[in-house]
Amino acid sequence: MILSLKDIKKVLILGCGTLGTRVGLRFALSGYLVKMYDIDEKIFISAQKTQDQLLQYLVKNNLLAPQHVDKVTDRISWTLSPEEAAYDADLINESVTEDVEVKLRVWKQFGALSPEHTIFTTNTSYLLPSMFAEISGRPERFCAYHFHDVFYARVVDIMPHANTEKWVVDLLIQLGPVLDQIPVYIEKESPGYIFNYMLMSVLGSAGALLTNGTGSVEAIDKSWMGNLKTEIGPFGILDAVGLDTAWHVVKKYKDDKSKRFAILLKQMIEKGKLGVKSGEGFYHYPNPRFKEPDFLGDKPCEEL
Ligand SMILES: NC(=O)c1ccc[n+]([C@@H]2O[C@H](COP(=O)([O-])OP(=O)(O)OC[C@H]3O[C@@H](n4cnc5c(N)ncnc54)[C@H](O)[C@@H]3O)[C@@H](O)[C@H]2O)c1
Repeated sequence: MILSLKDIKKVLILGCGTLGTRVGLRFALSGYLVKMYDIDEKIFISAQKTQDQLLQYLVKNNLLAPQHVDKVTDRISWTLSPEEAAYDADLINESVTEDVEVKLRVWKQFGALSPEHTIFTTNTSYLLPSMFAEISGRPERFCAYHFHDVFYARVVDIMPHANTEKWVVDLLIQLGPVLDQIPVYIEKESPGYIFNYMLMSVLGSAGALLTNGTGSVEAIDKSWMGNLKTEIGPFGILDAVGLDTAWHVVKKYKDDKSKRFAILLKQMIEKGKLGVKSGEGFYHYPNPRFKEPDFLGDKPCEEL
């Protein structure tokens, strides 16, 4: 059965970590009924807290009327039951751990549980949809639908594999603006899509400069932020992504620079330093040093 945009009403989010939390809220804000599924009940508490903070941010910035907050949260339900999660989903967006084995297990499980019409999408950052399409049992409906930050960075990548049917791609492109995202169509499978491919070079270089002793975390971020006039540098970005998610990506590269950086990330993870989500990574949260007004130095002279 070919679906059109109006057939999508119920959305299932698999994985309620950093990304799933934000994507689920974004769908609910656009009027969809959202089920949030995870295997770890504890994650629901932090996910709900993050969603509440995001809603407060939207209200404070006049992006959401205060009287709509309850309507949005009422559209979201939470479940640990795969059957309850899957039985009526029109669209699944998967945001489970960036690990091939975990994603293969999840797609095998939800491929078997979902109704025939369900469209399957993955939020993987650096893996490819063709790796999971077959095991899901419906490769023709399988596509990467990859969000970034969702609220601050509003790009969604649509990356099909060779056997994704065109109507699925068209529907996902149309869905982008409904979710207040800029759709970017990726013509052929590529690890990291377009932006992440470029970003990986920057983050990998930052990791190499740190581990080979060229500069400190702050020096490297200052260099980036001061030159490009950005509000965040490579290590701030790594903290926002999550050092565990970053490690899953970096450990795949076998060159010496990546190996050194992967060791550092692993040591930090073992100490519980996961970035923003654990309150500490390269910086401390909620008030990281790079957000302090004097991070890039004193105010420039007004007169010479
Ligand atoms: N963090 C980011 O900024 C970001 C951005 C874009 C895409 N992504 C992608 O999104 C995915 C998730 O990344 P994240 O940073 O949110 O990770 P995360 O570690 O914060 O969250 C992953 C969640 O998956 C859950 N999970 C693990 N196994 C599961 C299973 N079998 N069934 C259901 N849930 C399971 C975990 O309990 C956890 O809550 C990855 O593929 C990542 O590449 C992340």
